Amino acid sequence: MNKNLRKTVIAGNWKMNKTPSEALEFVKELAPIADNADCDVVACVPYVCLQNALASAAGSKLKIGAQNLHWEAKGAYTGEISADMLKDLGVEYVIIGHSERRQYFAETDVTVNKKVVSALAAGLKPILCVGELLAEREQGITAEIVRMQTKVALIGVEKESLKDIIIAYEPVWAIGTGKTATSDQADEVCGIIRDVIAELYDKDAAEGTTIQYGGSMNAGNAKELLSKYHVDGGLIGGASLKSADFGIIVDAAK
Ligand code: PGA
Repeated sequence: MNKNLRKTVIAGNWKMNKTPSEALEFVKELAPIADNADCDVVACVPYVCLQNALASAAGSKLKIGAQNLHWEAKGAYTGEISADMLKDLGVEYVIIGHSERRQYFAETDVTVNKKVVSALAAGLKPILCVGELLAEREQGITAEIVRMQTKVALIGVEKESLKDIIIAYEPVWAIGTGKTATSDQADEVCGIIRDVIAELYDKDAAEGTTIQYGGSMNAGNAKELLSKYHVDGGLIGGASLKSADFGIIVDAAK
């Protein structure tokens, strides 16, 4: 299959950066980047920035995403936000299972799966993150870890929903460290994820799924990473906070 038939998506993950007022201004810089792009462009912003980001992105091609959700629709879950709440606001994407959430907020493959299912049910598009720790790579179990994370996350997900899911391969050792996976490493593991989807569903589903790489992707290395057959976009942390850098990465997807 031709990689160009898959949707390329460049998504920024702002993490816990930018105030609502800063978001209002910054999204105005991102909107023209999205309008001139050959790919889909998403900004995943803190909950409190969503409303301003949506307002600033209105009328442009820039899509707005959240960085987390709770799997229950409503109820006694102090401090949490549901998929329906995000959908009602006009949010389109949501990052699920980011390694920082797994590491600092005790998310497991099981809760990640519940979140994926609830996001899809509400009509949100999950950006599902998987990836191995440095120790796991050194032990030679990268494939096993990533395969298991992907399989558990997709329990109960119908084949028809796959078109709404992006999978982001993010080796934990490459996130925010300045250490990028080589383009061959990224391609290899994105290919492993594609194989898992083929096993769970079928080859067409696997070939049609957008699989991003994330982890210190920047203006300098994006083109090489994005040129790889299995790499259909990027999830960008640090480099998404400067519009000039983010714009170069979006351009690299052409
Ligand atoms: P980074 O973060 O680009 O700053 O490494 C990527 C991510 O965590 O999604």
